[in-house]
Amino acid sequence: MMSISIKTEEDIQGMRIAGRLAAEVLDYIGPFVKPGVTTGELDRLCHEYMTNVQGTIPAPLNYCPPGYTPYPKATCTSVNDVVCHGIPGDKVLKNGDVLNIDITVIKDGYHGDTSRMFFVGEPSILAKRLSEITYECMWIGIAKIKPGAHLGDLGFAIQQHAEKAGYSVVREFCGHGIGKIFHEEPQVLHYGRPGTLDKLVPGMIFTVEPMINAGRREIREMGDGWTIKTKDRSLSAQWEHTVLVTETGYEVLTVSAGMPPPPAFIDPSKNSTVPA
Ligand code: MF3
Ligand code: CO
Ligand code: CO
Repeated sequence: MMSISIKTEEDIQGMRIAGRLAAEVLDYIGPFVKPGVTTGELDRLCHEYMTNVQGTIPAPLNYCPPGYTPYPKATCTSVNDVVCHGIPGDKVLKNGDVLNIDITVIKDGYHGDTSRMFFVGEPSILAKRLSEITYECMWIGIAKIKPGAHLGDLGFAIQQHAEKAGYSVVREFCGHGIGKIFHEEPQVLHYGRPGTLDKLVPGMIFTVEPMINAGRREIREMGDGWTIKTKDRSLSAQWEHTVLVTETGYEVLTVSAGMPPPPAFIDPSKNSTVPA
């Protein structure tokens, strides 16, 4: 059986750099998210920024897990009822749309993976609340991270918060270990029971990336082999950070100047900033 890798100090330095760069792509693209722009144009801008400004490689491009066809673009743009893995294309964004942009860069062999929600013009009250609750879900999960905690503690806390709000947690996709490999052990479920699954150890790095639906949790896959939508066509939201388990708790690696602040319930001393 494969096990969860423990990163070296050198790995951690590389992951801090990759994480910050991934977050900075999201900082860069935010102002371009406006009515009339296409998801393909947003992808093109991100791709150029990664390649020409950062010197990073977009990890999704040609990514091909077993059973999949190669992913054709540099980013994922998941609009409205798209849960994840939306392929950028000629879809024109209009006022009231909400979308997740998911960025994974490779720098010096290390992966940084982060996503945020964006509103096109003015969001509906539902879309705004769903995005806020999902953001809290991500941070509630992150806040559980410390040596000795179990992955089930994160999943349970996330699921409780989502369901208390009347929303549901997507089960088919999860967070993941990450490093020199895009997706590695462990699987980080966004539902579960406290005290179950792997015990956390300093030096583990994984993502927390809950997908929360306004309606039922069931999903369906589109014919393109990638795009996942809610089965009931309800809105779906997602936020993602890459996080290191430290001796005392956690360090979020996908930080940048433009990232939204953590919710008020987060202890700022654990929300480390990154050495440049
Ligand atoms: N970035 C996604 C994640 O958070 C994975 C996207 S795979 C892709 O794990 F090929 F669709 F890009
Ligand atoms: Co991820
Ligand atoms: Co991602």
